Amino acid sequence: PTPDAWRRVDTYLTETLVGHDPALEAAVADQNAAGMPAIEVAPVNGKFLHLLARIAGARRVLEIGTLGAYSTIWMARALPDDGAVVTIEAEPANAAIARANLDRAGVGERVEILLGRGADVLPTLAGAEPFDLVFIDADKESNTIYLDWAARLGHPGTVVVVDNVGRGGEVANPATERSDVIGTQRALEMLGRDPRFDATALQTLDLKGWDGVAIALVV
Ligand code: DHB
Ligand code: MG
Repeated sequence: PTPDAWRRVDTYLTETLVGHDPALEAAVADQNAAGMPAIEVAPVNGKFLHLLARIAGARRVLEIGTLGAYSTIWMARALPDDGAVVTIEAEPANAAIARANLDRAGVGERVEILLGRGADVLPTLAGAEPFDLVFIDADKESNTIYLDWAARLGHPGTVVVVDNVGRGGEVANPATERSDVIGTQRALEMLGRDPRFDATALQTLDLKGWDGVAIALVV
């Protein structure tokens, strides 16, 4: 399909199924105004995460990579009153925007932002109540570390989602020199081989372009 055609389809699906939400749209606007990269998930993907949390009956969600909290808001809104999202962000300026966006969306009380790099923060969560859903959306080079922690901090039945596993087709290039793609390839190979997971992945084509999402169950 031409970019014009699949963007039209994404707009159609978004208008038909996702609709508009002032707090989510304000979160993206403030993130953009702050000069942050426009790499939050597409609206159809945000709603996918939201529905997945509800389908899984998730009460505790772990997110690695907050950015401006767009996906965080989607997932927080899927949780029961006693639910919680713990989200990890390495960049303090991003965390400040995220906090304001979460509070404006009315989910601030159920979201804790932990500041630091995932590989440093995740070990501090050992012993915490297990997570029911883990969304991995940070530096792709560390994806295998994040998957390992997802299994350790989850339980049988935990749902794990890894964003950006397609990378415009580059994921299928065994000779790639891109460190982010190599990190993604290692993560997918881990999902295929590690007995703690059962997994698949889908290519996606939405307003963020041609990419993909992996979904795994901790067994
Ligand atoms: C990038 C990161 C993301 O998580 C994403 O969804 C899109 C792009 C990036 O680093 O380029
Ligand atoms: Mg992403």
